[in-house]
Amino acid sequence: MSDDPVILRPVFEADLPLLESFLTDPEATGPFQWHGWSDPARWRRRWAQDGLLGDDGGQLMVEAGAAAQGFVAWRKVAATRSSYYWNMGIQLRPAARGRGIGTRAQAALVRYLFAHTPVMRIEADTETANTAEQRALEKCGFLREGVLRSAGFRDGRWRDVVRYSVLRDDVTAQVLRAAV
Ligand SMILES: CC(C)(COP(=O)(O)OP(=O)(O)OC[C@H]1O[C@@H](n2cnc3c(N)ncnc32)[C@H](O)[C@@H]1OP(=O)(O)O)[C@@H](O)C(=O)NCCC(=O)NCCS
Repeated sequence: MSDDPVILRPVFEADLPLLESFLTDPEATGPFQWHGWSDPARWRRRWAQDGLLGDDGGQLMVEAGAAAQGFVAWRKVAATRSSYYWNMGIQLRPAARGRGIGTRAQAALVRYLFAHTPVMRIEADTETANTAEQRALEKCGFLREGVLRSAGFRDGRWRDVVRYSVLRDDVTAQVLRAAV
């Protein structure tokens, strides 16, 4: 496990090439997140508009060892006409994986979103085969809610997806410490 502190920070212009690598390089993206080519400039355009920090979602860089290692992201899910919650995700560059950074970055995002937005619930989805992400979410205090059958199409077939959630009331001091 890396001893470097893991911090989240806004995306700087110099980070855009790393972000764009996740849109253009299947090796950087990894097996579970590659869904084919898409507009490689879309994050650069959004960054120019709002720094990738909008009212309906956002992206923050994950930094460890004084270097950008990937990003976390969240998007609004409407619960009712007047209420919403977040769905969050993460993407680390290959060399950063398996060192505890993903666990700490997601715990930090949970802490950040509950501190700065009034949501009660944050959810996260991942394919049933993505054991690293499932384990990382469980270590952050997420509970496994169930399997969405054939909910994601990737690489020629529909994949089962596990849905996790953490509620504001679930967040313990232990979870908050996992973010440090
Ligand atoms: C998924 C991801 C965020 C996990 O972050 P990470 O920093 O690699 O994971 P951590 O080092 O914090 O490890 C978390 C747990 O997963 C386990 N783990 C790590 N890599 C693993 C792997 N390749 N296979 C199985 N388990 C793995 C760790 O052992 C740890 O569990 P433990 O504490 O019980 O031993 C990261 O690997 C990643 O960005 N992957 C590519 C993109 C992706 O899949 N994003 C999620 C999509 S929904």
